Amino acid sequence: MTPELDAARTAVDEELSAWLGEALREAEPIADPIRHAVLAPGKRIRPLLMISAWEAARGSERNGGNGRPPSLYRLALGPELVHAYSLIHDDLPCMDDDDLRRGRPTLHVRYGERVAILAGAVLQPLAVRAVGDGAAGLELSDGVTARLIVTLARASGGSGMVGGQLLDLLAEREDVSFGTLERIHLGKTARLIAACCTMGAVAARASAETVDRLTRFGLAIGLAFQTVDDILDVTGSSHRMGKIGGRDEALGKATTPSLLGLAGARDRAEQLGREAFRELAPFPAAHRLREIGRLILERDR
Ligand code: IPE
Ligand code: IPE
Ligand code: MG
Ligand code: MG
Ligand code: MG
Repeated sequence: MTPELDAARTAVDEELSAWLGEALREAEPIADPIRHAVLAPGKRIRPLLMISAWEAARGSERNGGNGRPPSLYRLALGPELVHAYSLIHDDLPCMDDDDLRRGRPTLHVRYGERVAILAGAVLQPLAVRAVGDGAAGLELSDGVTARLIVTLARASGGSGMVGGQLLDLLAEREDVSFGTLERIHLGKTARLIAACCTMGAVAARASAETVDRLTRFGLAIGLAFQTVDDILDVTGSSHRMGKIGGRDEALGKATTPSLLGLAGARDRAEQLGREAFRELAPFPAAHRLREIGRLILERDR
């Protein structure tokens, strides 16, 4: 990771901690579990994608991030909070039944299932608040703000993350086609990742064509993201990933390696990466989006 991207990630972490501190006042006793889940060392890929899509749309990445308004970081917390909620529920015993996440005991292990379910629920309205606060700070119009909220809501719901998670569970120990597998990946992972890119472009008040291009970049890199996640579940180090590997096979999940083999899965990830990068060709300021794309393809955690 370049020092510039690392600095952006630190800024995301600082905003997350500061904003949550404020937003969770008078929210005891759910505040501690939420901090346990959200402030754990995640990669912050989704906020970084939003910030970088904003920069690509504005054409302003070469100034080392100095041109980024602070409220952009707040807006970028919206998808990260939805993502954090999705991980808490994904790890529950009735879902993937995992004990370790981001190098910490999962929320239900630490605080019990009832608190974990409710912490996930609380993160959804918190995500909407972060988008509203961020958009207000950016002085975006009510119409643009509504569009940002609707983009996040659609990517999170029945035709997005939650719908994909249900299909993922229904596909356990079933024979599924590659087309079905990628529909699952699109729903559970790629739509939320794409929403980050869409939202960055919308917040930059980009043209419809730019919004569409960056959204298509996000969908392709989002599918690549889940493909690599499936590969790492087979090949990755549990210590590096902060979560236990080998779970997909144990649960009989349909995954890219289970359908295509490891080499086929790597080829598919590369192909999706090329599709994604093609969408960035017209942008002079997509350097950072490309870097995140490469990180997604080459990561080991
Ligand atoms: C893991 O996401 C869940 C998937 C959608 C595959 P990340 O790999 O982005 O998890 P963190 O945020 O870095 O912990
Ligand atoms: C989870 O996919 C996608 C979500 C919406 C959380 P996985 O079940 O593969 O994620 P990990 O491997 O547990 O992080
Ligand atoms: Mg899962
Ligand atoms: Mg899981
Ligand atoms: Mg996985």
